[in-house]
Amino acid sequence: MRGKLIVFEGVEGCGKTTQIERSRLWLQDRGKAPVVVTREPGGTELGVALRHLLLAEQQHPIFPRAELLLYAADRAQHIEETIEPHLSQGAIVLCDRYTDSTVAYQGYGRGLSLELIERLNRIATSGTMSDLTLWLDVEVEIGLARAKARGKIDRFEQTELDFHRRVQQGYKELAQKYPHRIVRIDASRSEVEVQAQIQEICDRRGIGHRA
Ligand code: TYD
Repeated sequence: MRGKLIVFEGVEGCGKTTQIERSRLWLQDRGKAPVVVTREPGGTELGVALRHLLLAEQQHPIFPRAELLLYAADRAQHIEETIEPHLSQGAIVLCDRYTDSTVAYQGYGRGLSLELIERLNRIATSGTMSDLTLWLDVEVEIGLARAKARGKIDRFEQTELDFHRRVQQGYKELAQKYPHRIVRIDASRSEVEVQAQIQEICDRRGIGHRA
């Protein structure tokens, strides 16, 4: 049986990393399907190199269209090398960011054409959509404060609040547009409460049920 692609999305500091790890442990503990954790950018060897190029301080800033194409290249490699092979073996793939990040960050954040991004996403993924996207919704100010407290300031985290507010608006509109695929999680709650929401949604969708 084909596996499931579950994607975690949200603004900086929304708690994806922690929740992915908790979800991995929970799913591994209860299910029969193998659980695989991966991320974008950086889920393959090529992706790790691209991630470094995309997120490290650059002497010459990367222009938005070049940035968009690098994320698309990362995704094209990732889907073929990692995601599809695991899905066809029946795994539950937990992916830290996927196509909705490009819509939110490059589309709403950087102002690139949403239509172009949708086309590129289709090309990069060959049409593989997430089965479920968990949008960890937290106020931008709270998320950025959390990210800064961890000393995790990268190129994006230094840009002004306005950029992240546009990204947040992107997630909001995506969730309204695709209510079945994208589920909003209140990520302002405690780690345990956020995980409880995730488990409830997975249960409702029959993800990770004991065989
Ligand atoms: P992030 O996933 O937040 O990693 P970490 O948890 O290590 O901080 O960082 C990835 C960054 O890449 C994040 O700022 C969003 C950005 N990004 C895009 O702008 N577009 C994309 O398509 C993807 C996948 C990521």
